[in-house]
Amino acid sequence: MSLLEVTDLRVRFRAGRREVRAVDGVSYRIDAGETVALVGESGSGKTVSCRALIGLLPPTAIVTGSARFRDAELIGLSDEQLRPHRGADIAMVFQDPARSLNPTMKIGLQVAEAIRAHEPFTRREAADRAVELLREVRIPLPERRAAEYPHQLSGGMRQRVMIAMALACRPQLLIADEATTALDVTTQAQIMELLLELQQELGMALLLITHDLGLAATYAGEVIVMYAGRIVEQATAGRLLAGERAGEVGGHVRMPYTKALLEAVPRLELPAHAPLPVIGGRPPDLSERHQGCSFAPRCQSARDDCRQAAPPLAEHESGHRWACWHPVNESRHD
Ligand SMILES: Nc1ncnc2c1ncn2[C@@H]1O[C@H](COP(=O)(O)OP(=O)(O)OP(=O)(O)O)[C@@H](O)[C@H]1O
Ligand SMILES: [Mg+2]
Repeated sequence: MSLLEVTDLRVRFRAGRREVRAVDGVSYRIDAGETVALVGESGSGKTVSCRALIGLLPPTAIVTGSARFRDAELIGLSDEQLRPHRGADIAMVFQDPARSLNPTMKIGLQVAEAIRAHEPFTRREAADRAVELLREVRIPLPERRAAEYPHQLSGGMRQRVMIAMALACRPQLLIADEATTALDVTTQAQIMELLLELQQELGMALLLITHDLGLAATYAGEVIVMYAGRIVEQATAGRLLAGERAGEVGGHVRMPYTKALLEAVPRLELPAHAPLPVIGGRPPDLSERHQGCSFAPRCQSARDDCRQAAPPLAEHESGHRWACWHPVNESRHD
């Protein structure tokens, strides 16, 4: 049975007369203990689609569709009704740790308050538990760190504190939103390893949000690619990267957008001065209705029919979904 089953999730924001369709019919599932990555450029709807699950969007957001967590439907619940699900079923490590931590409050107290928001602990018990959580996320000398303020910690350590807070209620699904984006490459790898270790230890499912397809494919089993509020491709990481070692980019990638994302990943084998390929053009304005495939204006493979009708997302090969009329690498069928 799946842990989380999202079906036709839509999020619109009302802004005066305009309406921004930030998430436009997203469906996927996550099994218990699984690692899934949600990948896409800035503005593709990654954060909004996840915040919608636990009701963390401003009142201007209109959310429709379904998100079943085990037996419970989450969409349509009131703030009050969602509270028991937040933290215990689904916890989220938010983008931008600098803004998520209170600069005037000691680390230990912040973690303790996160605990006390959910559990009927005394201050003393929560303080002890906070130190335990800091130890769990491998912060050295956790008793000492607990008495420090956020600015006394490095970016990586602050991110560990954020993870400790998210783990306070032993979530079954941890959503890490760009948890490592602000960090240097070495620290990034350490945090990713930590997340995977904790996932094993605690038996959680992990949803990694990132714009880096290389990172997604390295750490996740399943990769979901979003563009302009929709899923445009989904497959196992192994399948998307098969053929990479032979020097080919994106062995079984079908959607030209995914291929472009993969080409934009920094590559070690390229000389340091080689320019990074970027995807030309901009994502569409989500407040306007578009005919055809939303990636067509930027797509090198686009033809006339791409501008007429949007390709549906369908499972064309076992376990591999994509939304494209003229997929790339079509001769590969293994
Ligand atoms: N409160 C809001 N009101 C109106 N539009 C919003 C609001 N929050 C987000 N959006 C819009 O929804 C779309 C999706 O935003 P979202 O934050 O989910 O993108 P993202 O994929 O997480 O991007 P990033 O990689 O930059 O974090 C964007 O076009 C954004 O401008
Ligand atoms: Mg985001």
